[in-house]
Amino acid sequence: MTYQNILSELKNNLLYITINREQKLNALNKDTLIELADVFAFASTEKEVKGVILTGAGEKAFVAGADISEFSSYTTDQGEALARNGHVTVFDAIENCPKPVVAAINGFALGGGLELAMACHIRVAADTAKMGLPEVSLGLIPGYGGTQRLTALVGKGRAIEMIATADMISAEKAERIGLVNYVVLPSEVMGKAEEILNKIKMRGPLAVAAAIRAVNAAGAIAADGFEVEIEEFGKCFGTADFKEGVTAFLEKRKADFKGA
Ligand code: COA
Repeated sequence: MTYQNILSELKNNLLYITINREQKLNALNKDTLIELADVFAFASTEKEVKGVILTGAGEKAFVAGADISEFSSYTTDQGEALARNGHVTVFDAIENCPKPVVAAINGFALGGGLELAMACHIRVAADTAKMGLPEVSLGLIPGYGGTQRLTALVGKGRAIEMIATADMISAEKAERIGLVNYVVLPSEVMGKAEEILNKIKMRGPLAVAAAIRAVNAAGAIAADGFEVEIEEFGKCFGTADFKEGVTAFLEKRKADFKGA
């Protein structure tokens, strides 16, 4: 498969994947998700790949979320299908990748972008990065595992606050609450990610894969939670608030929600 929306380069047994839609702050459109599914399937099976670094093009954004312009007219069923398909082909595939995956968060990681970073095994953020799950400001909820993975990383109280307020937090706060592993200067993000993976590369690959499976199993109780998230995400698409939220974003104005 030739990629139009991502860059992929294998160097010293590390696969560097860059989401490459800088003009749209690397927002995840359908084609990008298809390419990510393909490249992670390759990373999972290719022996030469011993670790993966996922980042976004440019200095401004890691990923600013799912591409709002693509789903603005979706129905409830289409919304649910969007979430379910993304979960399986990309987000769960990254979490279950037998090779360690580090998110190099070089800027905004919002909505689906933060969900993508949270599906990775380890997160390194630039001190300039901002993170949040702003979906409720669109009349939506996170649909790519965010309600479950954020809760697992930072606890229920902080997760509900972040999701319900739609507030962005600084990289420094993200490190304090356990959302990211390290915060470094923007110029040091890739180096820190490489340092971690170069250490893991020296360890037994079968044992590393086994450790990933075992740690993931610790969160297995979330399986029902993912299903609830997918259904609730789909239902949001049937509300007038969702139509108002996405229209307001696309028209670059504040949303006026009616609660209907
Ligand atoms: N989906 C589609 N397009 C997006 C996008 C998204 N999630 N995030 C940003 N873009 C686009 C903008 O529409 C704009 O496109 P344009 O130049 O063709 O008008 C371009 O990327 C640059 O973004 P802009 O909003 O002009 O930059 P900014 O510096 O003013 O604001 C953000 C940056 C990240 C605060 C703002 O883009 C934002 O809030 N994005 C949406 C975040 C979000 O709600 N994500 C969850 C989606 S479920």
